[in-house]
Amino acid sequence: MPQISYDPDAGLWLLDTPRTSYALRVDDSGAPCHVAWGGRLSLAEAREVAARPRDTEGSSSFEGRPPVGEELPVDGGARYGVPSLQVRFADGTRALEWAPAGHHITETPDGAAQLDLSFHDRHYPLDITLHYRVHADTDVIERWTSLRNTGAEAITLLRGDSAAWTVPPRDDYRLSHVTGQWSAESQLRRETLPFGETVLTSRRGITSHHANPWVMLDDGNATEEHGQVWSAALAWSGSWRITAQRTPDGRAGFTGGAGHDSTTLLLAPGETHTTPCFAGLCSEGGFAAASRAWHAYTLDHVLPHPREIRPVLYNSWEATGFDVDEQGQMALAAKAAALGTELYVMDDGWFGARRDDRAGLGDWTPSPERFPQGLSPLIDEVHRLGMRFGLWVEPEMVNADSDLYRAHPDWVLHFPHRTRTEMRNQLVLNFARGDVAEWAYKWLSALVADHGIDFLKWDMNRPFSEAGHPAHPDGDDRLWTTYVHHLYDVIDRLRADHPHLRIEACSGGGGRVDLGILARTDQVWTSDNTDAADRIGIQHGYSQLYPARTMAAWVTDVPNQLTARSVPLRFRFHVAMAGVLAIGGDLTRWSDDELAEAAGFVATYKQVRHLVQHGVQHRLRGPVDDGPTVVQYTAEDRSETLVLAWQRAPHGGRPRLPVRLAGLEPGAVYRDAGSGTVHHATVLTDHGLPLGLPPGDWASTAIHLVRR
Ligand code: DGJ
Repeated sequence: MPQISYDPDAGLWLLDTPRTSYALRVDDSGAPCHVAWGGRLSLAEAREVAARPRDTEGSSSFEGRPPVGEELPVDGGARYGVPSLQVRFADGTRALEWAPAGHHITETPDGAAQLDLSFHDRHYPLDITLHYRVHADTDVIERWTSLRNTGAEAITLLRGDSAAWTVPPRDDYRLSHVTGQWSAESQLRRETLPFGETVLTSRRGITSHHANPWVMLDDGNATEEHGQVWSAALAWSGSWRITAQRTPDGRAGFTGGAGHDSTTLLLAPGETHTTPCFAGLCSEGGFAAASRAWHAYTLDHVLPHPREIRPVLYNSWEATGFDVDEQGQMALAAKAAALGTELYVMDDGWFGARRDDRAGLGDWTPSPERFPQGLSPLIDEVHRLGMRFGLWVEPEMVNADSDLYRAHPDWVLHFPHRTRTEMRNQLVLNFARGDVAEWAYKWLSALVADHGIDFLKWDMNRPFSEAGHPAHPDGDDRLWTTYVHHLYDVIDRLRADHPHLRIEACSGGGGRVDLGILARTDQVWTSDNTDAADRIGIQHGYSQLYPARTMAAWVTDVPNQLTARSVPLRFRFHVAMAGVLAIGGDLTRWSDDELAEAAGFVATYKQVRHLVQHGVQHRLRGPVDDGPTVVQYTAEDRSETLVLAWQRAPHGGRPRLPVRLAGLEPGAVYRDAGSGTVHHATVLTDHGLPLGLPPGDWASTAIHLVRR
């Protein structure tokens, strides 16, 4: 059971998860301070750690309080590190002083234990509550903060992070995170944590392709399978900032939350601001174990329908671009159904004057030229073919050349006297406005209800610019936060109204992937880059935090539209089978042989997708060199396992070694469902599985082993 204990003599709280402990206390100044985060500790052991003086404390008049080591370092007193909480009171005072105001330990209805630790400012009317939640089935600890203005004047929130995390002292620290750009998301970086402050951030109003709101720290010695790793992930889909710090006194930690530098929030009298959750995890067993723990947490505590099997999807985008019409879509739907596809998604171009990316965005009625009788004939046909129907929408955007923008030019983010910067010829609708969010909710809800739509691909194809809201010039940047809350609210209401509706989060591919959006969607469109060779690296980075169950992966045409690379259909399928398999090619141009081969792969995927989507992932060999990349997915009860291997372009004479499997039932015997070959688990684990990849480029395999 998760447990939170309080030791009144030591003033210490101890939070236990199945394999870890987290301890904190309030120090003599009243500030909440970190004590320990690591393997399980008893209260006596935690007390011993708490009693240790920090080396640098009081060592000179220049040191001040250590920048790392408080639960939510504030701007105030002798503090010179990154403030997780920085406010300005109405009289201009910025320094914050903690005054403890009690705590509550409760059990939540889902069996979690929660600690709410309350404080006031010593003088000013601000209440601060630090929240901690631990669950019985995960070592992930959820943390967030709420701030309440109990006075009569506004308080400016200059920085309001969700939580600061401190890792134990180590000789060295290494940071793992992802960077990227459009069509090259989730590029894993693993580098020594520099002394000073390392900021990972999005100032774009969306999570971004360029960085993703999670971090991992280790002591530089962790490997894929060994070592302790401290990680954290932020559940927020707008601008965000995580600052990792390594201090001259050899400590490290990270603080994170919504917002970016220079954006502020006014906390009105009586108002409470609650931050998003910045969850943390300490794990043993290397990066692989950390990833698996995040996968399990996402499945068990984040996704709305975690136990569902995601269907095989067809998406028309790469086949047709904007050139969609009833006949063409019906032709594709027939081909897709024949392959075994279960969900047919019509992408961009079905509405208004949308013929390219220059016009029509915002006018969400079916184009009468392209769909003379509306969408119903196509949807009926898709349903008749035995598939569910999905539709692309981009509710937060508008083309300047649209009826919507002509009617409501003030609905977009803008500043007076400033150019309204267009990207992809579009402007961002100000979802922070209640009327805009309500408009979106109404047309979306009507569209779903009127047409029996089963699935929405919710796209968002540009970041914010000129993020102003002149109708509410209240001097703060509230729209950055309210926008996201309204976005969440629209999605939540849609889901509540239409319980059958499933949603794919997309932002030009993977520009909006985070635990906040995953709490209200069913999968994400991982990247607009569908080149299977590039996808291996993107999927590897994605898997560091997010489970395969959420990772949509299409098989598309060759030469690839983006990279002009051609790789065999088999390789493309095997790569896409590592996530939620989908097809995105122009099936009307596939040969009969290709269609037959594709149907075979779809059928195979259906036999193993429960392992991919709900199994335990082992990255047996990463994309580290020109050898094979190998991923294994195993049923929780170890009764079956799937091995996927992809070999891009090996150098001549490269050894072709067997790959040692993981997670099998010791002593059991497994049968290869394809070849019938029988293997002992011990042999597979100690001596490896021969992959049988032929020499040459683009060799791949999928091996399904079933326990006898
Ligand atoms: C960006 C998405 O990532 C693509 O898959 C496609 O839906 C286009 N937008 C459509 O405009």
